[in-house]
Amino acid sequence: MAKKSILITGGAGFIGSHVVKLFVNKYPDYKIVNLDKLTYAGNLENLKDIENAPNYEFVKGDIVDDPFIFELFKRYQFEGVIHLAAESHVDRSIANPNEFIKTNIVGTVNLLNAARNIWKDNIEGKLFYHISTDEVYGSLGDEGLFVEETSYDPRSPYSASKASSDHLVRAYNHTFKLPVVITNCSNNYGANQFPEKLIPLAINNIKNKKSIPIYGKGENVRDWLFVDDHANAIDLVFHKGNIGETYNIGGNNEWQNIQLIHSLCAIMDKKLGREEGESAQLITFVKDRAGHDLRYAIDSSKIQNELGWKPSLQFEEGLEKTVDWYLGNSVWLDNILSGDYENYYDEQYHKR
Ligand code: NAD
Ligand code: TYD
Repeated sequence: MAKKSILITGGAGFIGSHVVKLFVNKYPDYKIVNLDKLTYAGNLENLKDIENAPNYEFVKGDIVDDPFIFELFKRYQFEGVIHLAAESHVDRSIANPNEFIKTNIVGTVNLLNAARNIWKDNIEGKLFYHISTDEVYGSLGDEGLFVEETSYDPRSPYSASKASSDHLVRAYNHTFKLPVVITNCSNNYGANQFPEKLIPLAINNIKNKKSIPIYGKGENVRDWLFVDDHANAIDLVFHKGNIGETYNIGGNNEWQNIQLIHSLCAIMDKKLGREEGESAQLITFVKDRAGHDLRYAIDSSKIQNELGWKPSLQFEEGLEKTVDWYLGNSVWLDNILSGDYENYYDEQYHKR
């Protein structure tokens, strides 16, 4: 019997690579096709463990390329889509919004059109699963949590492009009866995250005794979730989620940036045999991010109560594992740092 064919987009990126590995290892009866453009954020090194697995195939391509996407769906007859491909970094969306509009909005619509076209005669058992972010809900004050009914209020070009794609996914469900599900997740951390995001950037700078840039006063709050917990939630929603529904995913784990960085510095002092307090001296307050959202925090009781998901790791344990991974994988890190990362870093931080 032919294997069930599943498309995962953005599978060479941070979260996507964890999802691809989980699905390839856990579901030998699925054929997993990973479609990725390999932008600066895509890295096939993330998939070394499974690259030769018989139920895995990598396809290099761009979701913005409409005819290519149609051909791909025709060729593979996907029964499920897990869509993670996106431009994902807020600071880059402030510097250059256009790529975010193309990939996050136009790319998503191309996938929706292809799924609609290929599934029009038999919708039974099909699913388009769109991976989104809690940033679409905007910014919280000191109190309250995002629930699934919270009105959208995106405030950066990144979150506005993700909000737009969420609306389009829901519109295709409502208007064309496309079977969809959406999850909105909080900030992820863990192995293989590109060192433009706060935690891996700080780990790399601490390791190299470079200053740790903290935007504004470091008072902004994020709700951090270990990436493997997100991948497990995606597995659960893909198999058990109800069509047309939205589920919020979060770590119930809020930290002010400055507190988080102090914890990270303490862990790294120990791991690197430095004196207590040595790494914290690298903390440097820099010009704030434009339009910087103050606080994100997720109420994940729906996915917990309805599907039985919960986060598995305490933050301290997750941070230690993450630090161990980066210290143990300096080749992975060095390969990235030798690319156009230096140009990005100069542009982004030397202007502040
Ligand atoms: P990432 O930037 O690490 O990876 C994105 C991947 O998409 C890369 O492999 C890149 O090559 C690929 N890609 C980009 N443009 C493409 C295009 N036009 N065609 C095909 N592939 C393309 O991102 P991530 O952090 O792994 O995030 C994955 C998804 O999860 C995104 O949709 C993001 O919005 C969402 N999300 C991320 C977080 C987080 O904390 N990182 C939290 C919630 C939701
Ligand atoms: P980031 O990892 O970019 O995720 P997001 O903006 O999607 O939440 O940033 C997390 C928080 O850390 C956010 O409040 C911005 C802040 N930050 C810094 O203070 N310094 C940095 O160098 C970076 C990259 C982020």
